[in-house]
Amino acid sequence: MKRYEKLADDIAELIRTGVIAPGEKIPSVRHASSTYGVSPSTVFQAYYLLEDRGLIQARPRSGYFVHSLARRQLSEPNISPYASSSVDVDVSELVFSVLGSLKDPEMVAFGSAFPSPDLFPLARLSRSLASSVRDMKPHSVIADMTAGNPDLRRQIALRYMVSGMLLPMDELVITNGAMEALNLCLQSVTQPGDLVAIESPAFYATLQVLEQLKLKVVEIPVHPREGIDLESLADSLQRFPIKACWFMSSLQNPLGASMSDAKKKQLYALLQQHQVPMIEDDVYAELYFSAKPPKPVKSFDTDGLVMHCGSFSKCLAPGYRVGWVAAGRFAEQVSRLKLMTTISPSVPAQAALADYLQHGGYDRHLRRLRHALESQQRAMLASAARHFPHETRVSRPNGGYFLWFEFPERVDSLQLFQHALAQGISLAPGPIFSANRQYRNCARLNYGTPWDERCEQAMATLGRLLAAF
Ligand SMILES: Cc1ncc(COP(=O)(O)O)c(C=O)c1O
Repeated sequence: MKRYEKLADDIAELIRTGVIAPGEKIPSVRHASSTYGVSPSTVFQAYYLLEDRGLIQARPRSGYFVHSLARRQLSEPNISPYASSSVDVDVSELVFSVLGSLKDPEMVAFGSAFPSPDLFPLARLSRSLASSVRDMKPHSVIADMTAGNPDLRRQIALRYMVSGMLLPMDELVITNGAMEALNLCLQSVTQPGDLVAIESPAFYATLQVLEQLKLKVVEIPVHPREGIDLESLADSLQRFPIKACWFMSSLQNPLGASMSDAKKKQLYALLQQHQVPMIEDDVYAELYFSAKPPKPVKSFDTDGLVMHCGSFSKCLAPGYRVGWVAAGRFAEQVSRLKLMTTISPSVPAQAALADYLQHGGYDRHLRRLRHALESQQRAMLASAARHFPHETRVSRPNGGYFLWFEFPERVDSLQLFQHALAQGISLAPGPIFSANRQYRNCARLNYGTPWDERCEQAMATLGRLLAAF
């Protein structure tokens, strides 16, 4: 972290905790420079950053003051009701029409599924790509297709081990991103027409995969902070012949909810009791803001019932299309399905990631990325509190790069989406996250771009559009 960022964070904390109140003057640049032992230009940079985050404002010839709305906070969204029924999935058309309009690079990318590429070590990765391909043994170009690059598998297993999970290497299947892993896991435990328990709201691609595989779903409500509602899940497992669960136990997309360890243990006990396999989508695992990484449900798995899917797309290498699954007792089946479909992710991409994980400073990059995302989240929350209607509710996830907004009932997020697009702003409207087309007044906004005046202005524009409903 740079010195000015640290200083800005310290002052933001004083504002958040009320030590410096809205409307109060903050120390002059000269005073702050001598108090904190930093140069005046460092103080200026910190104050510009706080201004960008909307926490302070300059008054001509008077200095800097805490913004009058700096401490206003929006409340948490409500948990959705439990429908206790099974439904067919039919969202693809809607999802494609929304995604199709997100491609313009000039847009303010609040609808994007990725953080800004500027936050990734792409130059360092391309050095890894060049050197690993140069040193690649001719034999491995073919051999690594089936089993996956052995160094990459070792590095992934090592990361599981450091987080306290000992995984047999032959459980690991390297895939074309997590999306393929999730797809193969689902195919290995279901047949068309089967019933799968999913979250509500759920990641829209989950719904598309289920639709394509002709599976039916039971939607289990997710609490915005505490995660999957276990009472509803227990009820559904009792009443329906559920063949698999597809859940995110940490940093759920779109809510950002993370279950406690105790709740994850209970979830596992429930699945074990019913012998229902769980596909654990954990693609945001590395993007936590807490001191310690969250444990996956997989860490409580004693039966090989959990298929834990991960990816480098969200935290290191978007576009390299490398993910994996630790597939427990289903590993052989998943591996065969992969050989029958795509065979392998690109061998050079795997080699590049193996090299980067070994030599590229991955943990240092992750620390920086988490810090940037946390600071950007604070900026978006503060901005929403300033510009959005005061009845708006918002999640406060402990990681990742999405906020889930629940707007007043009168707001139609599909209309909001169209109006925002016309103003050069994208967002992900609520109905794409539900098989039942719920969440009409909700939207997911991405804070993965470094916060600047353009983001602030886009939030102000969304605020004006919301006020017009
Ligand atoms: C929840 C979730 N699961 C899976 C994926 C797919 O990951 P990958 O890009 O590795 O296929 C995404 C990407 O948007 C996601 O948000």
